[in-house]
Amino acid sequence: MTAIVPHVPVLINEVVAGLAVVPGETHVDGTFGAGGYTQALLGAGAGRVIGFDRDPDAIANGPALVPDPRLILVHERFSQMDRALEERDLLPVDGVALDIGVSSMQLDQAERGFSFSNDGPLDMRMSQSGQSAAEFLNHADEAEIARVIRDYGEEPRARSVARAIVAARPLTRTAELAALVRKALGHHAGMKSDPATRTFQAIRIHLNAELDELEQGLRAAERSLRTGGRLAVVTFHSLEDRIVKRFLRTRSGATPAGSRHRPLALAGPSPSFEQVAKPLSPSDSELARNPRARSARLRTAVRTGAPAWDQEKAA
Ligand SMILES: C[S@@+](CC[C@H](N)C(=O)[O-])C[C@H]1O[C@@H](n2cnc3c(N)ncnc32)[C@H](O)[C@@H]1O
Repeated sequence: MTAIVPHVPVLINEVVAGLAVVPGETHVDGTFGAGGYTQALLGAGAGRVIGFDRDPDAIANGPALVPDPRLILVHERFSQMDRALEERDLLPVDGVALDIGVSSMQLDQAERGFSFSNDGPLDMRMSQSGQSAAEFLNHADEAEIARVIRDYGEEPRARSVARAIVAARPLTRTAELAALVRKALGHHAGMKSDPATRTFQAIRIHLNAELDELEQGLRAAERSLRTGGRLAVVTFHSLEDRIVKRFLRTRSGATPAGSRHRPLALAGPSPSFEQVAKPLSPSDSELARNPRARSARLRTAVRTGAPAWDQEKAA
């Protein structure tokens, strides 16, 4: 058994400040995890927090982690939040927080298969359903595996890794995958990060369709927030941060959807977000306490009264 380190919430004070909680308000924690953000929002006086997580374990552990009658837990992906909130008559909400990625509980539990340092089955499914990492790696063709590792891991030598994976099939354990990636890329003591990091990240992002979830989650938050409602999104790598940055730029009118040479009527919808803040990174003291926070970035913005640009709910 691996020791489970409780998840240390990242940029928590900054998230609570960005959501500017007024006592009695309703906030969504789209990524409940170990309930760190939820606890802080309730501590700041939220009248109600709706905690979403796609991982059934996170939802099952929720009431023990945050025993508070103001918490409503929903086992659902955050891309579905507007639909789930509407069904419960909870729309619109005053704030939405998203803390993208995996929790320490998921990473440290070897049997979930997310970790390259603790051996476990090749799983990596947050929702505990759908295609596992073993099914993907043992059946996809080499070009597809290389594309995933290049696009979602930004691994410059994705083809070498994919070739080594195909040659070693069938794979069943995370330790096997980590060892073959290290062998394919070369690994020596003193390297800043384990060469398997990028490949594991890529496979996880692919299996859980994480970038698409983020795109759809931002749109679902846009449809869920009231005028003046606040959005706070924490990401952990540049692929995710780029999606949030672009979304807020476009939605706030900083990147016009139409050209300034075109008639106003064709210039695109009215901005649905304003007060887009400069991104925040963890302070030195937070990094000293929690090195896992090193690449975290927080972006916040405020919902305007304009209609959501994309009314279509995600499937
Ligand atoms: C980084 S952790 C959140 C930690 C949390 N903020 C805390 O302080 O304890 C991310 C959590 O979000 C969940 N998650 C990831 N993508 C999701 C999605 N699309 N919908 C719902 N939950 C998701 C994961 O299962 C994980 O439990």
